[in-house]
Amino acid sequence: MLVMVPPHPLIKHWISVLRNEQTPCVIFKNALAELGRLLIYEASRDWLPIISGEIQTPMSVATVEFIDPREPVMVIPILRAGLALAEHASAVLPATKTYHLGMRRDETTLQPSVYLNNLPDQFPEGSRVLIVDPMLATGGTMVAAIDLVKERGIGNKHIRVVSAVSAPPALQKLGSKFPGLHVYTGMIDPVVNEKGFIVPGLGDAGDRSFG
Ligand code: PRP
Repeated sequence: MLVMVPPHPLIKHWISVLRNEQTPCVIFKNALAELGRLLIYEASRDWLPIISGEIQTPMSVATVEFIDPREPVMVIPILRAGLALAEHASAVLPATKTYHLGMRRDETTLQPSVYLNNLPDQFPEGSRVLIVDPMLATGGTMVAAIDLVKERGIGNKHIRVVSAVSAPPALQKLGSKFPGLHVYTGMIDPVVNEKGFIVPGLGDAGDRSFG
């Protein structure tokens, strides 16, 4: 598995806004969206289907390369907070389809359950799937989400994960279950506490985004 923490100063900036407990809800949500924009840009590098053709410029004919509109990236935000992180996905990527997945973690057992599944029965063969969730803590939620995607015909190498903050338990679990997976994250923090929160982290991204 590849884990990328893109070394971009804007990524560091938005993370500092997210970490600050004084950041109000509307600014937090905007920072998550901006961080998502940058991480999705990085995750799409070397991954998008390019085709070439000829177009007429005002001066002459030029050979150009562009993203194949027939192969949209399937973007899956995991509700709730994944909605904010994926907000600019369709602005960054020329062709996308969005499928919502609502997952909630039990506060005591930390086990995830699905309360909304908008995924198709089967993805078209070779689809690229981008799963977006701000926190990879124990990893249970993301493992369950990837299992749902794989059941619908997608291999590890066609799945990329975008996350604001990740912790070692989640990265170890994902790495052992899904070799070939690529994870793009804004930061890696050392600890998941007994309540399942990443420390120092950024708190509960769902509550901080939506109140
Ligand atoms: C958070 C987070 C992930 C999950 C990560 O969601 O957004 O989905 O917990 O935890 P895990 O790696 O230990 O499974 P939460 O259940 O708090 O839902 P919310 O986004 O609606 O607040």
